[in-house]
Amino acid sequence: MGIHFGVDYYPEHWPRERWETDAKLMQEMGVQVVRMAEFSWFKMEPAEGEFHFEWLEEAVALLDKYGIKSILGTPTAAPPAWIIEKNPEIQPIDRQGRRRHFGGRHHDCQSNQTYRAHIKRFVTAMSQKFADNPGVIGWQIDNELGNSHGDLCMCDSCKARFQKWLEEKYKTIEALNDAWGTAFWSQGYNSFSQVSTPLITAVGENPSAMLDWKCFCSDLIVDFAKWQADIIRENCPKHFITHNYMCFDNKVDYYDLGELLDFVSNDIYPAGHWQKQPHQPESELAASHDVIRGYKKKPFWMMEQQSGMAGWEIMGRALEPGQMSAWAMQSVAHGADAVVFFRWRTCAMGTEQYWHGILGHSGNPGRIYREAKQLTHTFAKYMDEFEGSMPNPEVAIVHNFRQNYAFDIQPNHPELRYVEQLYKYYKALYEKKIPVDFVQDMDDLSKYKLVIAPLQYLMTPRLEQHYMDYVENGGHLVLTMRTGVKDAANLCMTDRELPGRLGEICGIEVPEYDCLIETTGGVLYGKKEYEIQKWCDIIELKGAKQIAEYATGFYKQSPAVTENNYGNGIAWYVGTEPGEELMEDLMSYFTQESDIETLGAAADGVEMMTRESEDKIWLFVINHTNDEQVYHLHDRYTLLEGEKEEFLKPYEVQLFEKNKS
Ligand code: GAL
Ligand code: ZN
Repeated sequence: MGIHFGVDYYPEHWPRERWETDAKLMQEMGVQVVRMAEFSWFKMEPAEGEFHFEWLEEAVALLDKYGIKSILGTPTAAPPAWIIEKNPEIQPIDRQGRRRHFGGRHHDCQSNQTYRAHIKRFVTAMSQKFADNPGVIGWQIDNELGNSHGDLCMCDSCKARFQKWLEEKYKTIEALNDAWGTAFWSQGYNSFSQVSTPLITAVGENPSAMLDWKCFCSDLIVDFAKWQADIIRENCPKHFITHNYMCFDNKVDYYDLGELLDFVSNDIYPAGHWQKQPHQPESELAASHDVIRGYKKKPFWMMEQQSGMAGWEIMGRALEPGQMSAWAMQSVAHGADAVVFFRWRTCAMGTEQYWHGILGHSGNPGRIYREAKQLTHTFAKYMDEFEGSMPNPEVAIVHNFRQNYAFDIQPNHPELRYVEQLYKYYKALYEKKIPVDFVQDMDDLSKYKLVIAPLQYLMTPRLEQHYMDYVENGGHLVLTMRTGVKDAANLCMTDRELPGRLGEICGIEVPEYDCLIETTGGVLYGKKEYEIQKWCDIIELKGAKQIAEYATGFYKQSPAVTENNYGNGIAWYVGTEPGEELMEDLMSYFTQESDIETLGAAADGVEMMTRESEDKIWLFVINHTNDEQVYHLHDRYTLLEGEKEEFLKPYEVQLFEKNKS
């Protein structure tokens, strides 16, 4: 496509006379694309059927004159007041049974057919209007679907749809009663019409019902997006369709959503005021980029990258010089084909008047603008070549939305979070400069030398077989605590000791376990004692060899980590959550045994990552710190950008290349 840098632009917030100045400044900065209009329904349709697209057509044309293309958002995350006045029932109901009202955004129920009809009218008109506009290249559906839809909607429309969804899934009410284990607490149903959306109960909830509810909500969001994608495809077959994801967010199964899209996009705010301060660790950002690439196994776009201080009522830290550029090139290193900065100019009104952009309130180009310009001028020339290329890791971490939902419903340990657990494994690899893919459990795993599958809690015979085949055929697999606990309906399995059939490849059984509430434990690995957290599986060896043992608890000296040869491969079982140090050392061992290459050696704030085309490999070395750093590469590359090999200035990004032999 040849488009690589852009900004999110809201011309409707500014006088018409300012637009040309914006376009000129953007052009000088190296902006090739803007995203617009994703919150501008009222401006485009101030009353039912009265369309006013002139202002947007004018903005598109003006930008096009400066060589800047447009992506248009469908504004369905903010239905205007006149729609709400006419159809107040489209506003969502929360779990307390309260209506959520107009005045913010995302005040919509996604199953409501009246709302769908409003969307159909509007999106049809908008997509027809811009179908042949030479300035428009694509669409973003809605905005961050699932965001602000905290517990989605409990209204009557959603209830009816949930009942229908259940009926399609279970066919008979007896099947639902079995799958939900409704013998417990007299929860049996006589008919689907008795099943409600999960309004707040007096106490407790049914984990199987909640799992279905979460899957239903995900399907509903996908259906809501498809409703729009179908309209756009019918009217604008030439334009691409994307959506701005939120990293690991779990309101919608992003793999399913990705099937509707030409490519996925992501939003990141590493220095948001809600993040770890002073900013989200770059290893977490790297993991988000890797999972985003994994959702469609394709390069992606950054549709919103933070470019200034974040803030609604309170604000986050200011960006240090170079930091934004390092984040931008980090996403490129992990597979982004384009980076769009949020937002062009800090706006003066509304909830986000402190959410800063490339330009401040005054609109004068300053430090951030100069940095962005320098970035595009340095890297634009390589971006065409990068386009379509992908990282090619030897290690994969398994990621799955249903497991995530199940741990949301029952964390087991109060602080256990599914994504955080994946991330702990990821971080150890990241710091060793080992690239990682995120994959879904049933994906073909055979191209990976090492697969790490934490918390395989919900288990099916098919998935068991899949992992067994992988190891049998020479794969190296890491399984962990809380594996094989439940069936697909979120009921505990009873026919074997944990971890079910996977015990055969691991050569172990787990007849007991301990939850480390408000305490930590210890493990002896080699000659050293390490901290462990949250959980201890009490393991019996059935052919495996022990590689670490507990140093605490009544199960002291029993196995904590095991290794087993199975077929041509190896299965490791980690029965606890390793503390950071143990994680590092275990991962050194697993990766060495699996013959995994590391890209180089450097301090933790220095990142190394590669992208490969058919004949080339590009290596990015990024300094995410405000200090000078040194590093060492394990392979020979030619330096394309950067001052001095093996040395980095604060926040410097270096680019290398080599030909594939
Ligand atoms: C994103 C959202 C944008 C804007 C930004 C700053 O989550 O997509 O519309 O709200 O955050 O808050
Ligand atoms: Zn609803």
